[in-house]
Parts: sequence; structure tokens; C-alpha cells
Amino acid sequence: MKGKPEPPPPKAGDITGVVEGTAPALRLGMTNEAERGRAAPLLDRILSAPRAGLARWPTPLQSVTRSGCPQVLVKRDDLSGWGRGGAKARKIEHLLGSMRAAGQDELITVAGNITNLAFDILPALDLARIRASLFILDDPPALPADREQIFRGIRDRVTLLGASRLTAARAVAARWTAARREGRRPLVVLPGVSHPSAIVGNACGYVEMVMQRLREGRAAPRVVFVSAATGATVAGFLLGERALREAGQPPARVVGVQVYPGALRRSVRWLLRWAERRLGISSGLPFGPIEILSSELHGGFGRYPPELGERCIRLEAEAGLRLDPIFGGKTWAAMERMLEEESPGDEEVLYWHCGYTPEWPQLARMTAQGGAA
Ligand SMILES: Cc1ncc(COP(=O)(O)O)c(C=O)c1O
Repeated sequence: MKGKPEPPPPKAGDITGVVEGTAPALRLGMTNEAERGRAAPLLDRILSAPRAGLARWPTPLQSVTRSGCPQVLVKRDDLSGWGRGGAKARKIEHLLGSMRAAGQDELITVAGNITNLAFDILPALDLARIRASLFILDDPPALPADREQIFRGIRDRVTLLGASRLTAARAVAARWTAARREGRRPLVVLPGVSHPSAIVGNACGYVEMVMQRLREGRAAPRVVFVSAATGATVAGFLLGERALREAGQPPARVVGVQVYPGALRRSVRWLLRWAERRLGISSGLPFGPIEILSSELHGGFGRYPPELGERCIRLEAEAGLRLDPIFGGKTWAAMERMLEEESPGDEEVLYWHCGYTPEWPQLARMTAQGGAA
């Protein structure tokens, strides 16, 4: 008896459009890679890092004007076309490129109850045929039923753990040992893809943005605002900023708005050193100052005052920007405050849209209840 025809075999285990070891067409007026390599070795190194092609680059750079407010530039990484968008797509592309280049076939990592990354990285790992071992820490704490609800779309792909970081570390170590025994080549990655490859991915994003401005015959922004949880995105931007300075661009400020508690400045410094060591290249120039605004924490990760939620809804109606008050809304509020207080004049200010958390109203309720339980 003839059954249904077999589905065609997947194509050679490849992500569509994988570009490994090829630099994107970004050159600071330098005609060839050899020239760029001599004149701007760090930039050359960053742009040549392996990556997997998942999203659509470059993302738009948009000028946003609202009545009574100075104009700001918005880097629309939320429109990257991969998952929930944002700087995470850049991290994931470079992490996968690096894992494939190293022959690694399993990713072991940890996320919390409020995560965009978990949802975006699983389909990417599937495309790359890399096994995912994803552990979810109960942070911020939520009720068991709510956690089931948060992760219902990927429930069979994640392991829910309690709030203890020690238990999470043990679970990661146990999976790594088991994977090695199975003959795999696993990679353990810190939360938020805090890994040199991801930092380089975000550095490429920063360079992309500056190149967009230069191609339009405009100056690069002098201040860039971005949300900071683990600090990997801020570290990437500081790396990109330094590479561009080495290539002759004027300095710019990167301001990270802290949304997750902890010693963020120290983490960023440590991530920068790690990325630099991995790149095997040390520029003669120092990194720019690590500017972190910690005023937006509102008592812990995921917490925010009700007016911030309302402000995000208003911003969508007025400017068509969807921000959530857990990440991007806090950064927008901090930027507007700075614009009011410092009036930066002609200095163009850029807001980096890192993506959107669609379930933010439910998450706020769930984590507030879990914390009280
Ligand atoms: C929407 C959004 N913005 C910003 C961040 C912060 O990124 P990082 O952990 O690199 O600081 C995240 C990370 O979870 C995010 O989901």
C-alpha cells in the first residue's frame, strides 16, 4: 500500500542565506578589505566575524518628531523581521555563526520569566540544527500556573527551575556533562547571550547605523540610548563606537538605561574585556565611558509605575512606536528626561529600539502576584 509521499529532506542543515566569514558591505570609504584591515583593524575584525543570516538588515533609521519634543532618531531594530525583533536578532545571528564555525552542536543557557530571547532563539537554533537546552529561572518570581501560561508556546522546549541560581548552575553543569557523554560539542552561554560573539553582533549593528547616516551625508548621532539588562548590547555598542573612532569617526556617547538590578557597569566592563580578548586585538584607544542610568528600576525587574504603561500606549498612538514599559519604555522616558534637562542642542540623539514584549500587561500582573506569594 502506498502511503503519503515522504516530505522532502531538509536542505543540508543550513539556515537560508548563511554568510560565514563574510563582511557585510560596510566600508568607511575604503575600497577593499585589505585597506580597511590596515587602517581600521578592529572594525575589520568585527565586520568579518561569522554570522548566520536570519533577519533583514539594515533596519530603518527613522526621524521621530512629536509636538513639543525635540526630534530624535530611532533605530528600528524592532523591524528586523526575526522574532520579536531588536538587538537580540543580531546577537543570535552572530552566536550561531560562531557556534557553527567552532563545530558546536548544542546551546545550554538560562533565561528568566520575562524573556524575549527564549522565544526568538529556539526557532533559530532549529534552523541551524543546534540542540537547545534552555533552563528558565523563576525570576522575577511568578506563580506556577502563570509560568505555564507565559511559556505555553514553547513549554516542551524549556525546563522550568526555581529561583535558586545555584540550582540553575547545577542544572547547566549536569546537562553539559551529559551532552559531552553523548558525544556532543555543547556551548554554555550566560543569560542574555552574554557572549563575545553576541557583543560583536551588536557592534556590527552600531556600525550599520553610523554607516546609514554617513551614506545619507549626515553626521552620526552623538548620543545613543539603549535598554540594558545584562549589558551585552551596551558592550557591543561601545565596541562598535571604539572601532569607528579608530577608523576616524568622532566620539559618541552610549547611554545604557538599566532595567535589571545588579552591578551593570562592572558587567559591561567585564564583557568588553572578554570580547576584546576573543577578537585577539587590542586597539590603542580606550573604550568610551560606560554610562549607565539606574533611575528606571522602579524596585526590580519588570516593575514600573502605571503612568509608564500609559505613556507607552500614548507613544504608539502618537508616533507609531510600540514600546513596552519593562524595557524600551523606561529607556524612552530616561531619554526624554535628559532632553529636557540637558537640551543637547544640535547634537542628534538616537533611541535604539531593541524590540517589544507583547505580553507586558500580563507579565506585570503575573510577576507582581508571584512576588507577593
Ligand atoms: C526588548 C529588550 N530590550 C533590551 C534588552 C536588554 O539587552 P541586554 O541583555 O543585552 O542588556 C532585552 C533583553 O532581554 C530586551 O528583550
